[in-house]
Amino acid sequence: MTSYHPSAMTKEIKEFIDSLLLCSDYSDKVPLRVVDATLGDGGHSEIFLKSGCSVLGIDMDKKAIERAEKRLAKVFQNVDLSQGNLGNFESSFECFQSRHSQIKKMMEKIGWKKCDVVFADLGARLDQLYREDMSFNGSEEADMRFDKNENTLTASEILNSYNEPQLRKIFKESGIKSYRRISNVIVRNRNISSMPCNQLSKILFENGVKRIHPSTKVFMALRREVNKESQELDSLLNSMSEVIELGGIGIFLTWHSIEDRQVKSFYKKMERMGFGESVTKKPIQPSQLEIAKMPQVRSAKLRVFKFNKI
Ligand SMILES: C[S@@+](CC[C@H](N)C(=O)[O-])C[C@H]1O[C@@H](n2cnc3c(N)ncnc32)[C@H](O)[C@@H]1O
Repeated sequence: MTSYHPSAMTKEIKEFIDSLLLCSDYSDKVPLRVVDATLGDGGHSEIFLKSGCSVLGIDMDKKAIERAEKRLAKVFQNVDLSQGNLGNFESSFECFQSRHSQIKKMMEKIGWKKCDVVFADLGARLDQLYREDMSFNGSEEADMRFDKNENTLTASEILNSYNEPQLRKIFKESGIKSYRRISNVIVRNRNISSMPCNQLSKILFENGVKRIHPSTKVFMALRREVNKESQELDSLLNSMSEVIELGGIGIFLTWHSIEDRQVKSFYKKMERMGFGESVTKKPIQPSQLEIAKMPQVRSAKLRVFKFNKI
């Protein structure tokens, strides 16, 4: 049996979808159109489909598209029409290998001018983090691209070609306190770029990079740089006011304080500009029960923004 990425905060996310469905403006136009901008294994999309929404899924990783398509086809096969969802509302599911910044193009492809919800569960899936070219125990050279067909620099190439100030910048931006020392270690050991991930990790450890796991934060910073995660998030946030219908919502699930800050300050900016309001004045965090079952969700934060009706 395939083991899927565990989807976090599904109960809380479903409650936001259900309350949108209950809005008078929305009750006559189900199915809601949801763009899942980080499809992954399709766990959240499954919740959206089962709530009667139509879903457009986007993911940079081809593997995610293949796995989610297979998983979600079963939702349509198993649907119980007597339950009053899915079949009744002619929900649809379409997905594409693409990136956040292409959201408008992907919507055009399926004839959506607007959608009602943009959802994103940022970062990486567990199976991506365990990849041999991504994990600090990995036996392969650090590549870290979500889409290996993209003509972008791999983590190895970044380690080998960025000068010291450029390296400092990416580690500092990822909140690493010893960013100076780490950048210096890397520049002094340029040949580490062609080493397997586990050896890179060992060198960092030997040079005193010891917080949490010797290199967790360094590896995350490199993954964020390789996949331009911060720029992609900016682009997705910026598209929202254009693609979301008035009265619709943006739902963002973040795993890192840097991303949470990015989402929070963007919501504030949109409030100031009169686009709508942040529904979650403080981020919603997973329940103690969910944390007990799945400790890795501890750092998750959920923020929702609602767009004004005219
Ligand atoms: C945390 S996982 C999502 C898991 C999903 N919610 C589920 O329930 O299975 C994040 C996903 O976003 C994808 N991703 C990351 N950055 C992206 C981007 N800029 N555009 C599209 N997909 C991206 C990753 O490949 C990964 O599959």
